[in-house]
Amino acid sequence: MLATAGSAIGLGNIWKLPYMIGVNGGSAFVMVFVICIFLVGIPLMMTEILLGRRAQKNPLDGMQALAIEANKSSIWKYLGGMGMLTGLLILGFYSVIGGWVLNYIFEAGNGSFTGISAAQSTANFDALLSSPLKLLFWHTVFMFMTMSVVAHGVNSGLEKANNILIPSLFAILLVLLGYSMSVGNMSAAYQFMFKPDFSKITPVVVLSALGHAFFSLSLGMGAVMVYGSYLQRHVSIARTTIYIALADTLLGLLVGLAIYSLVFANHLAPNAGPGLIFQTLPIAFGHMPGGSIIGILFFMLIAFAAWTSSISLVEPAIAWIVENTKVKRHIAAWTLGFAVWLLGVTVALSFNEWRGVKIIFGLNIFETLDKLTSTILLPLGGLLMAIFAGYFMQKQHVQEELDLQDKAFKLWRFTNNVIAPIAITAVFLYLFGIIK
Ligand code: PFF
Repeated sequence: MLATAGSAIGLGNIWKLPYMIGVNGGSAFVMVFVICIFLVGIPLMMTEILLGRRAQKNPLDGMQALAIEANKSSIWKYLGGMGMLTGLLILGFYSVIGGWVLNYIFEAGNGSFTGISAAQSTANFDALLSSPLKLLFWHTVFMFMTMSVVAHGVNSGLEKANNILIPSLFAILLVLLGYSMSVGNMSAAYQFMFKPDFSKITPVVVLSALGHAFFSLSLGMGAVMVYGSYLQRHVSIARTTIYIALADTLLGLLVGLAIYSLVFANHLAPNAGPGLIFQTLPIAFGHMPGGSIIGILFFMLIAFAAWTSSISLVEPAIAWIVENTKVKRHIAAWTLGFAVWLLGVTVALSFNEWRGVKIIFGLNIFETLDKLTSTILLPLGGLLMAIFAGYFMQKQHVQEELDLQDKAFKLWRFTNNVIAPIAITAVFLYLFGIIK
């Protein structure tokens, strides 16, 4: 359970959610995102955990075993394979952003935030982005951190540390919120994020919110399936899921409030994009009492949260290699790590030297990987898992895993079998221009 929480809580909450809110019209995005968490995220997280706990294997072999158990075609194993690949694609950019966080631990430490203005903070971040060497250095350090854990086998020590680190993250966030409330513009932030504005809900907003619900809860690629396979029999899947989903969502929304309060007080652009937290947080840390220490701690906690998430992005693929070939775990980890590192190099360059290189629809390398995984591959993976659990597995097996009372089981079944598939399919049809 701790591992799953560690996987879910990461850059998705702290780095991505705040800027996604700004880019997608504020409250419109928040509303749709929260609905997606409840109607799609929670039921599908239960589904993914139940698949993992029943299969007791890596996603590819696990899907195959479940298909055989249900007397269905082994073709389902490719769903597990797709998930593993998706994880590696995500890690390609996740590691670069993890590198930004590592860089900011040091920036907080060497006093470069002290008394910083909004304009200086933005310039500081731009300077980081335009330095390929810095980006590559920190991306390499982050990849190294991730792969050295994976090479030894994910150990319980790191996951147990989540016991202390997740509450610490909440605690330090409350300090930041308190500060933002006293010097920032909290009422503007609140209005921006929570005052309903239905006019801003567009297909793109819905697609982004749905994709982010998957990204934020680590759904649709088998990470949760792997951790579900470690979940003991007596632990309730529903309760575990609800705790994690609520903590994950609450954390993200609180970070959003703290950030937007500073954004509005400093006349920054809410739609600044991926640099948003790196441009705003230094202003807070540069002016609050004890800001250097709090800044260092805050960025260290984010780095830790990112680290436990990044491990879960490669673990499915590594587990598959180790369980199916004679390749030793550490060799598999360093080889795959090198391949993902190379992908990350292209991502790092897409912020500077290769900024003009467009892959599809005018998107650069970073944007392509991000959109492809969050808005297509993760929801597609989730959709197929829902269909498998809902229509291909024996109902009795599903019931055994979920161990829910009749009413709760019916509710899960309705959301898993009907609501989630319809919502995801409708969004896809929009995306492909079939429904206009
Ligand atoms: N949920 C992680 C975050 O919010 O940072 C990112 C992530 C991890 C996505 C693992 C997908 C995944 F399988």
